Amino acid sequence: MAKQAGGQIDTVMQESRVFPPPSEFAERAQIGSMAAYEKMWREAAADIERFWGSLAGELHWFRPFEKVLEWHEPDANWFVGGQTNISYNCLDAHLTTWRKNKAALIWEGEPGDSRTFTYQQLHHEVCKFANVLKKLGVQQGDVVSIYMPMVPELAIAMLACARLGAIHSVIFAGFSAEAIADRNNDAGAKVQLTADYGWRRGQELPLKKNVDEALDKSPTVKHCVVLKRTGNPVHMQEGRDHWWHDLTAQAPNDCAAESLDSETPLFILYTSGSTGKPKGIKHTAAGYNLFVKKTFEWVFDYRDEDIFWCTADIGWVTGHSYCVYGPLSAGATMLLYEGAPNWPDEGRFWQLIEKYRVNIFYTAPTAIRAFIKWGDAWVDRHDISSLRLLGTVGEGINPEAWMWYHRKIGRERCPIVDTWWQTETGGIMMSPLPGAIPTKPGSCTKPIPGIIPAIVDSSGKPVPPGQGGWLVITKPWPGMLRGIWGDQDRYREQYWSKVPHSYLAGDNARCDADGYYWIMGRIDDVLNVAGHRLSTIEIESALVSHPQVAEAAAVGRPDEIKGEAVAVFVTLKNGEPTDALRKELKAHVRKEIGALAQPDDIRFTGALPKTRSGKIMRRLLKDIASGKATVGDTTTLEDYSILAKLRSEEE
Ligand code: PRX
Repeated sequence: MAKQAGGQIDTVMQESRVFPPPSEFAERAQIGSMAAYEKMWREAAADIERFWGSLAGELHWFRPFEKVLEWHEPDANWFVGGQTNISYNCLDAHLTTWRKNKAALIWEGEPGDSRTFTYQQLHHEVCKFANVLKKLGVQQGDVVSIYMPMVPELAIAMLACARLGAIHSVIFAGFSAEAIADRNNDAGAKVQLTADYGWRRGQELPLKKNVDEALDKSPTVKHCVVLKRTGNPVHMQEGRDHWWHDLTAQAPNDCAAESLDSETPLFILYTSGSTGKPKGIKHTAAGYNLFVKKTFEWVFDYRDEDIFWCTADIGWVTGHSYCVYGPLSAGATMLLYEGAPNWPDEGRFWQLIEKYRVNIFYTAPTAIRAFIKWGDAWVDRHDISSLRLLGTVGEGINPEAWMWYHRKIGRERCPIVDTWWQTETGGIMMSPLPGAIPTKPGSCTKPIPGIIPAIVDSSGKPVPPGQGGWLVITKPWPGMLRGIWGDQDRYREQYWSKVPHSYLAGDNARCDADGYYWIMGRIDDVLNVAGHRLSTIEIESALVSHPQVAEAAAVGRPDEIKGEAVAVFVTLKNGEPTDALRKELKAHVRKEIGALAQPDDIRFTGALPKTRSGKIMRRLLKDIASGKATVGDTTTLEDYSILAKLRSEEE
């Protein structure tokens, strides 16, 4: 690694392999050549309003929009004056076409139970549940908090909220009671949706129990609707808690989709930033709807006969955009799977691909690294020849994993789309269009039409090709976040103040001489653990809330499967640094945030290494955590401040 001016990091990775789209694929693709892509991108860049405005006709408008974009940086209003409804576009719009009886959703539960919903059936379920919400008093603008396993009812609940103009806040089912309560309070949620339990590797996750604890601290939540998933008993609080099946049994079948202004808030999704408090990223209906529909169609080259499978949990943005809204807006058939990839065995994903004849498979590099570790034999046991396109998302994919995916899963004939985007961007921003753009392992290649990125230094000046810098987006796009819930100042400050007139993504990247983008990791203290964003400060705050902890520093260290693992350094106020305390602290973080944030390593130290101005020397701790700096004998209590002193003498 070489350091660049402006504190940027350049890469030493040189990857020169190029894989053109296979000709059989390109011949049938919607966008079938580099020339076609470049023409489309150039035309879009020349006039983004005309570009998105002409595509918006693909949505149903109760009232047509008058203006494509009103841009008062950083506030965007897309499709001004128009009225539409994303639930209508995902469901009702297909009922007047042959897709009415097409499978919209094929679901498989972890124990092997399965259900299929046609567009018509899904519409019916969504209408019923929208009536349930109405009966509970949910109105346009109310926030509904959803903490559920990966079951069809989760998608049904989201679409029901959208139908009424209510705002959903989906909380990943791996988060703790504390995390649910924080999010409920920040959003002012009125209703909670959950299930009794969820299945995970044959175990039952106590979702309702977590919700009970959370609701003790969520005074705004008045009702809780509980889906019976496993059937084990749960506590039901009289007056507050209702069974899903009881309420839907009484609900009428019809519920017209509300005609909603384009900028009606659709959802809040909490994600980690560089402070201790997760931020509620706000998305609105019409622009997001168009953006996820078009990116889904372009990037996955979707054809009506395909089965599309995105393995992400709906609790993350990938699941919102490419398990629910993107595919349904496009009239696709998608597979949804409830459980773990290694249950009942490590061949589960390949077995599902064989069973449902999946054509397009979208997963994460952390999963791919796990598949490699589990071994090729699990793949060989199944017929996965139905696959025609592969995708990845969540973090950069290392070229070795890319090559394995290409050879072993793609049989050297399926293009791979490495898609770069964020919770904030709503949908895919950079990715190969699979029939048009040759791929290079480890690069997300080029921006999709309508997206205009740049790499700049910390003063906002573009850097030359090949040099690392900050990734920014220079023009608004319809799927962009509209703000941070309840904190527009933070929105402006974090995304729109550091580089003039550009959205700061928070990633370092470089663009090579062919115009290919390579993402090089975050510029802030955000970790990427198994494709999930975690803030070091959030983990540190959780640790410091333990009565025995005086100070804590969290850093990422490389991990073969998860990409990054969480390593923490802790100084104690009192007590002994024992293994029992280590266990207790891990459990404490799990309780405060959730299992995904649990530290992998905990080291006790007499003092944390700090600069003269008192800033923790994270780079040194990172080196120690990844084994790059010798710390001598590992006794239980170490004094890393001595190393820091040595280093500052070196520097
Ligand atoms: O650092 C980038 C990384 O994940 C971050 C966004 O995380 P999140 O909002 O949780 O959304 C993840 C799913 C869209 C980015 O800032 N990231 C995501 N995709 C890629 C990536 N890094 C490299 N290559 C990718 N394809």
